[in-house]
Amino acid sequence: MSRTFYVTTPIYYVNDVPHIGHAYTTLAADVLARYKRLKGYDVFFLTGTDEHGQKVEKAANAAGETPLELADRVVKRFQALWEKLDISYNDFIRTTQERHKKGVTHLFREVMAKGDIYLGEYEDWYCTPCETFWTETQLIDGKCPDCNRPVEKLKEESYFFRMSKYQEQLLAHIEANPDFIQPKSRRNEIISFVKEGLRDLSVSRTSFNWGIPVPGNERHVIYVWFDALTNYITALGYPDQAGNYGKFWPVDAHLIGKDILRFHAVYWPTFLMAAGLPVPRKVFAHGWWTVEGQKMSKSLQNVVEPNMLVDKYGIDAVRYFLLREVPFGLDGDFSHAALVHRINSDLANDLGNLLSRSTAMVNKYFGGTLPQPGAMTELDAAFRARTEAMISQLESCMDEMAFSKGLQAIWEVISAGNKYIDESAPWTLAKDPAQKERLGTIMYTLLEAQRIVHTLLSAFMPRTAAKALGYLGCMEALRDEDLAWGKLVPGTQIAKAEALFPRIEDKAE
Ligand code: MSP
Repeated sequence: MSRTFYVTTPIYYVNDVPHIGHAYTTLAADVLARYKRLKGYDVFFLTGTDEHGQKVEKAANAAGETPLELADRVVKRFQALWEKLDISYNDFIRTTQERHKKGVTHLFREVMAKGDIYLGEYEDWYCTPCETFWTETQLIDGKCPDCNRPVEKLKEESYFFRMSKYQEQLLAHIEANPDFIQPKSRRNEIISFVKEGLRDLSVSRTSFNWGIPVPGNERHVIYVWFDALTNYITALGYPDQAGNYGKFWPVDAHLIGKDILRFHAVYWPTFLMAAGLPVPRKVFAHGWWTVEGQKMSKSLQNVVEPNMLVDKYGIDAVRYFLLREVPFGLDGDFSHAALVHRINSDLANDLGNLLSRSTAMVNKYFGGTLPQPGAMTELDAAFRARTEAMISQLESCMDEMAFSKGLQAIWEVISAGNKYIDESAPWTLAKDPAQKERLGTIMYTLLEAQRIVHTLLSAFMPRTAAKALGYLGCMEALRDEDLAWGKLVPGTQIAKAEALFPRIEDKAE
């Protein structure tokens, strides 16, 4: 039986169109999914949209549509973008789908039957944009501590979830599982938050209608976060515990942004505990992107549209940049200059150049036929060992979601390859017919290392890797076995590679 791997993105609100912040989480999940598939895992990669709640209702009213019309329109934007970015998701869940509503209703019922959801009354400060209630002491200067916008006093009848009851169980779980919440700094924040004490959580609303009704009391709709978080199991067929639920739950990795960590690391696990279901194995919160040094916002008109980036720079350059530029977990800054710099130096100069140089030499010295390698010298063996070491380096980086560090490990091999050419000086050997075998060994070693490099890179830059592997005569679907040294077959016809990434000369960028 093959091992399974289940990875998710947040489900995105449909009151906003996709920007690089959304693309970032989704891309990271895609890279992980592709990497695990390469490693032989049976992968389930889920993304989707969060379509209920007051925010969506308000946005629809403002646009003169029903909430569902709005959702139907915006969901297409997300799906089209994921297609454009080569996102290999296995399922796309919308919270307005029947399968989801059925699962949420069931979970709510289960927790209620257990006595952990009860009817009470709520009065507190409410931030509509964040859909969050705050206590007096949490407010900063009387405003929402998250978004700094005005809050209003709300009183309503509400169902409450007995979150306080699970405080100790949650804390014990976090402490016993150091990898459960990552990165570490975020884990510490959550530990302090839980230690301060968990209050019961209001899990229904009567102030608007756009949501899933509370079973048995239709005046209430289920709180949007209870509804949204449950997508991670409804997409697996919950409440049916056979099938995908049985196969993939608990999830291996929920990838999210740091702003929604509390929902994923506190609310969600306690809901699950109350229902007697296993909690996620890992919740990883990444940082936020600013743009050219500034917070990204509609009012500043600096929202970076991924579609535009892809049209301008190409898919794989964008995929590479977002994962290479900033260590996953930290905040980072997007700038066109930095992107152009990465394209020119890492992609055109290092990666692309290595492939064009080496395939050109095989054509010049061997008429494009890959030679049989002879005995390896120390120089060749060192380069091969370097290449093989990269495979396990990347493995541990991927386990830690250290995508940038993983790419660095790959790039060290690429630089070593360019250096290997300079040191072995094939052009000198080519002048001496007695050195033909030696020259052949160097060519083979060079191309074989790049075959392995591109096999791994297929997780990050699928199109570029496919193109490069095409030049090397390997067109098969990629598997773990392909990471073994020596798979290139002597005698294969090697075409001279065109530049994988043309340099961008525009200084005005
Ligand atoms: N609908 C909720 C999630 C429910 S998951 C059960 C939501 N949606 S969202 O569309 O507002 O945000 C989705 C993700 O985008 C979050 O993980 C958030 O961190 C991420 N980003 C939004 N802006 C971002 C940046 N500027 N930079 C990086 N990621 C950012 O929250």
